[in-house]
Amino acid sequence: MPPALLLVIGAYSQTDQASFDRGFTHIKLGSVSELLSLSQEQRLAIRALAYKGHAPFGADEMALLPNLGLIANYGVGYDSIDVAAARSRAIEVTNTPDVLNDDVADLAVALALALSRRLVEGSNWVRSGRWTKEGELPLNRRFSGSKVGVLGLGRIGREIAHRLSGFKTEVHYFSRQPKETPQSWRYHASPQELASAVDHLFVAVVGGSQTQHIVDGEVLRALGPDGTLTNISRGSTVDEAALLDALEQKTIRGAALDVYAQEPELDPRYLALDNVILQPHQGSGTVETRAAMAALQRQNIMAYFAGEALITPI
Ligand code: 8YV
Repeated sequence: MPPALLLVIGAYSQTDQASFDRGFTHIKLGSVSELLSLSQEQRLAIRALAYKGHAPFGADEMALLPNLGLIANYGVGYDSIDVAAARSRAIEVTNTPDVLNDDVADLAVALALALSRRLVEGSNWVRSGRWTKEGELPLNRRFSGSKVGVLGLGRIGREIAHRLSGFKTEVHYFSRQPKETPQSWRYHASPQELASAVDHLFVAVVGGSQTQHIVDGEVLRALGPDGTLTNISRGSTVDEAALLDALEQKTIRGAALDVYAQEPELDPRYLALDNVILQPHQGSGTVETRAAMAALQRQNIMAYFAGEALITPI
């Protein structure tokens, strides 16, 4: 049997790459599409995969690595990995939950505030000299005291809701079942009901087939012309054609997005809009959190190679 190998896929920071170099006999690939460049000998030797990226990793890719026993995902969301296919081959899957909750929730709140208070236009107003020539920025909208709705009260959704309650908001949420929450938080049994009750809707459900287009045209209509949408989860959760129509026709006030149906090449219709704030899927993108995610990914791989219990199995 050849020596057990780790396959590393994706772009890692220098520090994280150095940790792989120090700790593991490994092969590095930039993306899933490069799998076919491996020799058969290498493919047979690969026992574990450190995966970073959003390209699908499914049954065909797993079939190329017949001795793979672990996929350690860098990220809490694992919708790009076909977990059922992995289970059928007895491949274990791990992710990196919790360590990124604060950063993603911070970004969600920052986005919603930036949208209401027009921070991007405000900055451009100063830089372009319009402040000097035209005077004050046109008035924006108050965020404090509004009604906010969190779609999906999981780890990240809960952090968003807690932060929002600090802005004197009325907190509403949707999840499959009512959850234990502070008494004032109001449960809604459907996304549409939630949207019609609030001014600002935050999408925090996991990605995947179960939540595909959970925010559709009806939910956006329920949100209404004064409503805003903030999405920090996955682009797949929103019917993008319906969202773009709503933004173009101003049947919602605006959207703040960190994720898209296609990344990084988003629909060019977004770029013509003045009522969106667009971020490059950077919710977990702080030095601190990315280091914690990478460390958790490596701990799972080390546990697997040592035959110990995985730290954060799916
Ligand atoms: C990405 C994320 O993993 O954790 C998730 O589910 O979407 C992000 O943290 C990150 O962009 C690296 O690809």
